[in-house]
Amino acid sequence: MSKVTVVGAGNVGATCANVLAVKEIANEVVLIDIKEGVAEGKAMDIMQTAQLMGFDTKVTGVTNDYSVTANSDVVVITSGIPRKPGMTREELIGVNAGIVKSVVKSVLEHSPNAILVIVANPMDTMAYLTIKSLGLPRNRVIGMGGPLDSSRLKYFLSEELKCNPNEVEGIVIGGHGDTTMIPLMSHATYKGYPVSTFLSQERIDDVCQKTMVGGATLTKLLGTSAWMAPGAAASFLTEAIVKDQKKLLPVSAYLEGEYGMKDIMIGVPCIIGKNGIERIVELPLTADEKEKLKASEAAVRKTNNILYETKAL
Ligand code: NAI
Ligand code: 2OP
Repeated sequence: MSKVTVVGAGNVGATCANVLAVKEIANEVVLIDIKEGVAEGKAMDIMQTAQLMGFDTKVTGVTNDYSVTANSDVVVITSGIPRKPGMTREELIGVNAGIVKSVVKSVLEHSPNAILVIVANPMDTMAYLTIKSLGLPRNRVIGMGGPLDSSRLKYFLSEELKCNPNEVEGIVIGGHGDTTMIPLMSHATYKGYPVSTFLSQERIDDVCQKTMVGGATLTKLLGTSAWMAPGAAASFLTEAIVKDQKKLLPVSAYLEGEYGMKDIMIGVPCIIGKNGIERIVELPLTADEKEKLKASEAAVRKTNNILYETKAL
């Protein structure tokens, strides 16, 4: 029996809960929000698709009552304001730090052993805030950005290669930001062969660029940040934990020397299973990728420093 709580019943949270239910990833899903009635309404709406979609997962919605979330195996934190057009993820820090800090405290009072999946932006910094303020073991705090960015990379590659996104492999590491993420093109493959076998450097660079601004492109089109792929990516990561899949996924992990970094949460490939982050995998990187990772590290640290400057930490 598995129980997953999703905090924040907005666009991303409700989509995540919906995918968790439709794919029967958990037996029980609790959706919780601070806004009166929103989580109840979204949960009821999802449950009214149960017969149509043929799932058995029970979804419950609740306003601010964390006792209902008790004994969750995984808690996905999506509560926070999203980007508006022209805004960076980093500009959300002040408001979202306050929300994330109070929410994780309430969550842990009722689910002291839960694995926490942090989605609220700026995600690497919100995950860092969570681990530093609560002193949790590093396997239990996972930042979700890489599974989304990697899925976007696979989509843009598939458009270029005119194939199904499931036929390509690709991974994005580094910070979850327009200028900080690093699509690892040296590891991207189509039918098992490097994409450079099929695409010119110019096309590869274009895919890379489109991936990096993938979130901003959608924010401009939609007037707020995207939710379908983010919600699905959060549930994909949750599934790897709940079903102990031992999947290799790029997630924001607390580093203690891996990739030459310490005291930071940033996207790196990890084995994900029932204990959360079970292993950090150090992939060989090209000189260019190493340089980009250093720049990404500096940018994430700069955002983390705001937490200290504003006394959020
Ligand atoms: P939204 O505005 O649709 O939903 C946020 C929800 O959080 C609202 O329903 C709000 O009432 C709720 N909330 C606010 N304070 C709360 C509290 N203290 N307790 C419980 N609920 C609270 O926003 P959306 O689009 O769902 O985005 C949520 C967050 O996820 C944003 O910070 C966004 O930037 C981030 N995001 C992160 C992604 C990633 O890959 N890491 C991808 C997409 C969005
Ligand atoms: C996204 O990547 C804004 O993090 C959000 O869509």
